[in-house]
Amino acid sequence: MNNTATEIQVQATEKSGVLRLTLTDFRNYPFLRINAHCAPVVITGENGSGKTNILEAISFLTPGRGLRGARLADIKRITPALITDEYSPTEIANLSWAVSATVQKGGEEIEIGTAAEKSTRETAEESRSFDRRIVKIDGNKVSSQAELGKYISANWITPQMDRLFRGGSQPRRSFLDRLVYAFDLEHARRTANFEHWYKEWYQLLKAGNPDNNWLKSLEENMAATGVAIAAARREQIAKLNRFIESEPDDIFPNVMLELDGTIEQMLDKMPAVEVEDYYQNLLKKQRRNVLYNDSIDGINRTDFKVYYKKKHMPAELCSTGEQKSLLISIILAQSKCQTLHQGFAPVLLLDEVTAHLDDKKRDALLEKILVLKSQAWITATTPAPFTKLQDDALFLTVRNNQISPSK
Ligand SMILES: Nc1ncnc2c1ncn2[C@@H]1O[C@H](COP(=O)(O)OP(=O)(O)OP(=O)(O)O)[C@@H](O)[C@H]1O
Ligand SMILES: [Mg+2]
Repeated sequence: MNNTATEIQVQATEKSGVLRLTLTDFRNYPFLRINAHCAPVVITGENGSGKTNILEAISFLTPGRGLRGARLADIKRITPALITDEYSPTEIANLSWAVSATVQKGGEEIEIGTAAEKSTRETAEESRSFDRRIVKIDGNKVSSQAELGKYISANWITPQMDRLFRGGSQPRRSFLDRLVYAFDLEHARRTANFEHWYKEWYQLLKAGNPDNNWLKSLEENMAATGVAIAAARREQIAKLNRFIESEPDDIFPNVMLELDGTIEQMLDKMPAVEVEDYYQNLLKKQRRNVLYNDSIDGINRTDFKVYYKKKHMPAELCSTGEQKSLLISIILAQSKCQTLHQGFAPVLLLDEVTAHLDDKKRDALLEKILVLKSQAWITATTPAPFTKLQDDALFLTVRNNQISPSK
């Protein structure tokens, strides 16, 4: 089967991407500025030179905790002087960082930025200071990070994700939830609310002698929001499966996605309102599990299953390179669906993505990036594997916290 003949040529109708990126006191960079076009950027450099940090900075132009899921306090630049005793703990705590960018979406150029800002939480006993992430669009502070989604979106693949298909289900759930956010901004609020209520419910039960009405109201909230989360996940999986089905590929493996969760499966059998009642009852029945440290069934236990379709092989049993390819297949399908949905392609952040790929797959990936018209930021230790992008990409090298064109 000829790949290009069968492939739906999803292309962004409008150019999009980061035109100018500025980092201030971000990780290893005191100050860094990169000017780019809406075309791929290949960043090379030695280990520890700061390649991933640049991708992480771009990921902070989208809602959430960035591609490393970092704590805000870990991002501000640490220098040897800080670790010795030239600075007091308060001075260190007051340090900040910022990422700003000019992004293009359609014909428009917009200034967006994000930074850590000190905030204090007052209680009767103490006043505690903590870092808060603020977001600015065209110079104005906005109340919600979700606003960023109107101007830029990003999907990433990092070396940490090599372990996504092995081990516990939590990282797979978070991965899937991020795919949902791209289409349904409310999903982020729902998952955050659910986690908040769940924690409160769990702590009330653990502490013993809880107020029954309070427990019931938390269970009601969790059931209603939990069913909405399950429904949104199901919709996303169905959307991606339909898309993948319609676009068979003979180089990257076709994936099949599935959800393995009690609540998601109940939605196959009964209307959502009835599943809400079922979930509320299920939570009530499991109150005693908390006391015995038994697991609690529900949307926080759902697993996101991925299969190599042709081989009928679960992803966790696939080889390292196959797992990487499955991940790429998902991210490309997601990016194309987003492009169709929003009219512009999401930025792709591909950290050491070619590490486990054979030459054929690597070149196929680069070609797909060009077809998608996505601004891909690609890192590697050497530029040699990227000759296919020679005429299209900007090649940059990082060294000594500075960036320059690759030679
Ligand atoms: N908060 C921080 N302040 C200062 N430096 C930091 C901070 N956090 C991380 N670093 C340093 O930034 C450097 C660059 O890290 P980064 O992960 O970007 O390197 P890399 O070029 O991607 O390396 P590799 O090729 O090994 O993946 C590392 O030496 C790391 O220790
Ligand atoms: Mg790196």
